[in-house]
Amino acid sequence: MLKEIFEQPRSILDTFRGRIATDLSAIHLGGLFDIMPKLIAAKRIIMIGCGTSWHAGLVGEYLFEELARIPVEVEYASEFRYRNPVIYKDDVILAISQSGETADTLAAIELAKEAGATVLGICNVVGSSIPRETHAGVYTHAGPEIGVASTKAFTAQVTVLTMMALVLGKERGKLPEEAYKKIIGELSSVPNKIKEILTQDDLIKKVAALYKDASNCLYLGRGFQFPVALEGALKLKEISYIHAEGYPAAEMKHGPIALIDEKMPVFFIATKDKSYEKIVSNIQEVKARKGIVIAIVTKGDTVIKNIADHVIEVPDANEAIAPLLTVVPLQLLSYHIAVMRECNVDQPRNLAKSVTVE
Ligand code: AGP
Repeated sequence: MLKEIFEQPRSILDTFRGRIATDLSAIHLGGLFDIMPKLIAAKRIIMIGCGTSWHAGLVGEYLFEELARIPVEVEYASEFRYRNPVIYKDDVILAISQSGETADTLAAIELAKEAGATVLGICNVVGSSIPRETHAGVYTHAGPEIGVASTKAFTAQVTVLTMMALVLGKERGKLPEEAYKKIIGELSSVPNKIKEILTQDDLIKKVAALYKDASNCLYLGRGFQFPVALEGALKLKEISYIHAEGYPAAEMKHGPIALIDEKMPVFFIATKDKSYEKIVSNIQEVKARKGIVIAIVTKGDTVIKNIADHVIEVPDANEAIAPLLTVVPLQLLSYHIAVMRECNVDQPRNLAKSVTVE
């Protein structure tokens, strides 16, 4: 798992390869070429997946709605397949999967095809069942992911979703050329920014040592960072067996705030974006109840540094790009906590790398 976390600067470059023009002026997604007219005309996109791939879909929802102004729904494949969902022929279903073999995702694809929708895939394993069952798609090319806890596959999925949202935004006339190029530039700087985050591994390990014996943890984020909160919580629970929950930070008041006491570590993803002021007040609310705050912040942030117990910095980035950065310290935190608890991080109990049965 550690190897795969540290591979991310390289694996994201592999996801870019041959797709982002060297002068950073354009993105070409060959796998979608034939299907592009349908995608441009789509009235809505339904993203389906399980676990971490579902979290990538949630980031995709923010990306597609923000950059391409297409309505998106994100569904657990397991619920979608049994819910008798309303599927229109002009819907585009986007299945997201690392392995390409997840039983629920495959069944949901079958259902969408029977309903006459266009079905696309974002997949890591070349030649697996999902790329064979979908009409078109984009491989993530993150390389083999062996650790059961998905890390580099997630950042590769989000990278592909960002590229798709940019292409669609431009083709649909919703994203001005200048903004399109600016975000491509930001996206291309992600590998170096992740390298910078990885240099803080020792600091992250020290924070992990302080909270390795926690029984419960809360992960909170807003907007683009809400799915990252879910992913951070999933990473912790699956490899360290600590109970962790992710929530949109604003939902805290509607229940989870009752859990906060001096033993409760609360991980905030609080980078500088349009929700920044709001999340600062959420942090103050937790501190007022004696909770412990560990915040992932934008480099140079002094406001949160003065309130939180610990801060881990990530380089400044456009809010649409920031999930690719903020998830990395959360992966490392989970990894170190699990190792300190003597858990087998690569083969956590009860879990399989790909869930090929119901
Ligand atoms: C992620 O850390 C998990 N191991 C799990 O949630 C996984 O993402 C899920 O089973 C989906 O797998 P897939 O991406 O191969 O379809």
